[in-house]
Order: sequence, then structure tokens, then C-alpha cells
Amino acid sequence: MSGRDNDTDPSVEPGQRVSLDAVFDTLADVAPEIRAGLPGRRVKTEETNESGERQLAADVWADDVLEDRLGGLDAVGEYASEERADVLDTGDGALSVAVDPLDGSSNLQSNNPMGTIVGVYDEPLPAPGSALVASAFVLYGPLTTLTVARDGTTTEYVVEDDGPREVGTVSLPDDPTVYGFGGRVPDWTDDFTGYVREVEQELKLRYGGAMLADVNQVLTYGGIFGYPGLRENPEGKLRHQFEAAPMAYVLHCAGGASSDGAQSVLDTEPDGLHGRTPVYLGNERLVDDLEAALDTR
Ligand code: AHG
Ligand code: MN
Ligand code: MN
Repeated sequence: MSGRDNDTDPSVEPGQRVSLDAVFDTLADVAPEIRAGLPGRRVKTEETNESGERQLAADVWADDVLEDRLGGLDAVGEYASEERADVLDTGDGALSVAVDPLDGSSNLQSNNPMGTIVGVYDEPLPAPGSALVASAFVLYGPLTTLTVARDGTTTEYVVEDDGPREVGTVSLPDDPTVYGFGGRVPDWTDDFTGYVREVEQELKLRYGGAMLADVNQVLTYGGIFGYPGLRENPEGKLRHQFEAAPMAYVLHCAGGASSDGAQSVLDTEPDGLHGRTPVYLGNERLVDDLEAALDTR
């Protein structure tokens, strides 16, 4: 089963509530600063990250800013990111934050949307999806928005110069309209290709190359996003700890579902800090159909 009912515990203890407030207030505070720092940092560095991807100056810089600001909070005891090899011990705080400082950073080149993903775990990293207690993403689009998932609810804010303004609760429309899947079509498996042929009869293709922006379209219009396991790379591209699980948490809190092809990503464990996983996020019916299509037992 991909969907999980009430899988986020609304009875969070008060101390943790204060700690989560600190994390998301800080994220709202730092978002305009990161956005403002992007234009001058579109150049590639000579370095590659743990996933073997060439880093942009913006990737490295945003990671440093977030490490300083989120890692500096009393509530945060560990900071990890896609852009650094190891988990950083940042003190005695009970929360561990796992960050994709810039998701879809190659979109900087083409001036398309991209953003920041933050997963908040209450266990040392790498941690299973079940250890997530909240997650959020910032989308640097025509507006800067902050979408926070906690206490079983997903809430969207517009980040303005004087702070975040709540837009409202996000809940996945019942009637889905869009889909987007990553990877080259010839690299897809036959089972997945068969599923896509069905989906495209019903939905409209929307794919922009930044997971969080593509998922935000699903949150807005209903539908499904996925980065599948590929013939030569059965784990796909996206990283469990920094991308797949935090965005799955957002979907679940918005009334949607997640899967790695067989079960909810919130029920799976990462294969190491930088481990990858196939991930599918969207309306429960579409995710259930996907699981059925990939179930070759
Ligand atoms: P990142 O910029 O953090 O490395 O993430 C890029 C990811 C993800 O955002 C997106 O869904 C995917 O890569 C796009 O990959 P393709 O270029 O293969 O479509
Ligand atoms: Mn990413
Ligand atoms: Mn990234």
C-alpha cells in the first residue's frame, strides 16, 4: 500500500514544536538571502559532490549558508547535505536536518525554477523515512514560496521581505491533471513504460527538471511525479535522505501518496547518507496503479 492514513503524529511534544518553529522561521529568513545570491553564482566549480555531479558555485555557497544558519540552531544536532560527504555534528539538539541546498540547480543555467529542500529527522543521519518529523521546501519561482509539512498538514507561505505570509493549507486536488517523469525514455523499464502509456491517456505532461518545482505542480494541479529506476541504474537518480523522503512527507501531509515502486518512501531506509531511490509522488490512485504496474510477482 502506498498511502498512509494519518501517518504524521499530530501530538508532537511542545519542546519539539518550538524546535521546529525555529527551523522553519530560520528557513523563511534565509530564503530571500539565498535567492538574492544566485545570479552571480551560475558558474561551475572544479569540484564534484558525493553523487559525482559537478557543483555550481551556488550549490556550495547555499550549502554553507544553510549549514551556518540551520546548523547554528540549538535545536539542531546534526546537519547533512547533498553537497558534503559526511554528517556534521552541530551540537546537542535533538533534530537532524538533511538538506538539498539547491534542487534543480542546473536550471540556473536556463533561468527556470529551482529551490531548497529540508528534511527534519529525530534520529541520527542517515535515518529512515519513518524518522521524519517535518519537512519543507523553498521554491525560487516568480514568487519565493515556502511549503512546510508538519503535524499532518502541509501549508504554503509566500516569503516577502518582511517575512512569510500564509497562503493556506495545501491539499492535493482529487481530480489530477499533470504528470512528469525523469530519465531518458529508452532507459525506462518495459513495465514503467507501460504504466506511462496509460497515464498519458489521462494526464498532461509537465516536466521542468527540478524535482521540487515539478512536485509543486502536482500539489497545485493533482497528478504524479516520478524519477524511476532505470535499466542500468535501478535506484534512479534522486537521493533518499535529501530529496525523496522529505518530498514524500510533504505529499503525505497534503493528502497524497509516495512510493519507491513497492511501498511508501516513508517506510524505507536510505542506502547510506547519499543513497538513491526510485520515487513516485502524487494522488493515491495514480501511485497505487504505479505499484500494480511494477509488481511483477
Ligand atoms: P540537483 O540539482 O539537486 O542535483 O537535483 C536535480 C535532480 C532533480 O531535481 C530533478 O528531478 C532531476 O535531477 C532532473 O534530472 P534529469 O536532468 O535527468 O531530468
Ligand atoms: Mn536535488
Ligand atoms: Mn542539489
